[in-house]
Amino acid sequence: MEQYVIRGGNPLVGEVEIGGAKNAALAILTAAIMTDETVVIENLPDVSDINVLLEAIAEIGATIDRTDRHTVRINASTIGDLSVDYEYIKKIRASYYLLGALLGKYKKAEVPLPGGCNIGSRPIDQHIKGFEAMGAMVEQSGGYVTCDAPEGGLQGGHVYLDIVSVGATMNILLAATLASGMTIIENCAKEPHIVDLANFLNAMGARISGAGTDVIKVRGVPQLRGGTYSIIPDQIEAGTYMAAVAACGGEVKICNIIPKHMDCITSKLQEMGASIINYDDAIRIRSTGKLHHTTVKTRPYPGFPTDMQAQICVCMTLASGISRLTENVYETRFFGYCTELQSMGANILITGKTATVTGTKQLTGATVCAHDLRAGAALIIAGLAAQGTTVVENIHFVERGYERLVEKLTALGAHIRRIDD
Ligand code: UD1
Repeated sequence: MEQYVIRGGNPLVGEVEIGGAKNAALAILTAAIMTDETVVIENLPDVSDINVLLEAIAEIGATIDRTDRHTVRINASTIGDLSVDYEYIKKIRASYYLLGALLGKYKKAEVPLPGGCNIGSRPIDQHIKGFEAMGAMVEQSGGYVTCDAPEGGLQGGHVYLDIVSVGATMNILLAATLASGMTIIENCAKEPHIVDLANFLNAMGARISGAGTDVIKVRGVPQLRGGTYSIIPDQIEAGTYMAAVAACGGEVKICNIIPKHMDCITSKLQEMGASIINYDDAIRIRSTGKLHHTTVKTRPYPGFPTDMQAQICVCMTLASGISRLTENVYETRFFGYCTELQSMGANILITGKTATVTGTKQLTGATVCAHDLRAGAALIIAGLAAQGTTVVENIHFVERGYERLVEKLTALGAHIRRIDD
């Protein structure tokens, strides 16, 4: 079993380059199969979730040419199969984007029910509500979701999402792009990756307005064209390095990012005592490792991201005083890492949606197990800040979303090794 072995206690110093946003790339790669022309995607993160999705797209007949680690050329004119039965796709949450993309382009789709990290109940009722509002027939049986457009194709519809959902907003956007007439999505998610997907689709000839606000309007077009597009930087990868510096102390320039996307994370880390300077496409963070307590409530963008909950929790475990962390998106997320942090000496009390974290001066190395992607990232930060040696198990979760993590941390002065047992 692969593990990370970390000897903690070193400050982090230097520069780190952030890769393309995994969650934007997953949607944009599926959108790329909605044209028969060739699409080139740049700044693609080289992480396992992306590689699984590309293999699934190749399985249904698209031509995939990985021209280098961060660039892929996709031609979907050869797609012959609208039923995705590639075994591994069940493991990634974003498999559901294939529903919107295939339904929009080919009027039919059959995809396994999505998997992904076990961070709470993850229904897809809002995605289905959107497809049905465009006239699709949707069925769920035998672990698959099957969608069929009506005779004459999808018709624009009006969808009010009952809950702000990143996945449903993106999926409805995909399907609506090639529907007839106008689709209006209200109460939609506003994450940077929603805007990135809309920008990509517009660059291919779609007519989408309002992405990044509560209401998106999609005027359907008959077809999309090819082109070249570069994915935005990963807000959560950048935030993870910021939290690591805050917890361990040190000074790091976090390069190739959009500082505006980081505001929700920057303001909390500043409140905790880190000093942060924004540049055009970078942030410099400095921390003595002595942090103050704070209060964080996770919310859809522009609120504090649920995908940074576990990493900020590690900072709280080392801060003076009592911090409060409330999870408003995924109810069971605390269970992925809090027990592990407790075994390292953290003082965390969970009551319903809130964790009360009483800061301690020092965490102590231990053998801990990642239960999901961001939980794994948090345990690595804890190990880097702790006294002694930490072994993080189940690192396949971490490798779903962090590229060259060991290399990047080592360049910052961390002692971390990946071992294959
Ligand atoms: C995406 C991200 C994930 C992030 C999450 C919230 C990807 C691949 N994953 O997940 O990393 O943690 O956004 O920022 O981009 N919900 C419903 N019905 C639905 C859809 C969602 O009730 O049809 C609920 C979910 O259970 C959850 C909330 O809405 O409580 C938000 O989920 P959503 O924004 O859809 O998350 P994902 O798109 O799955």
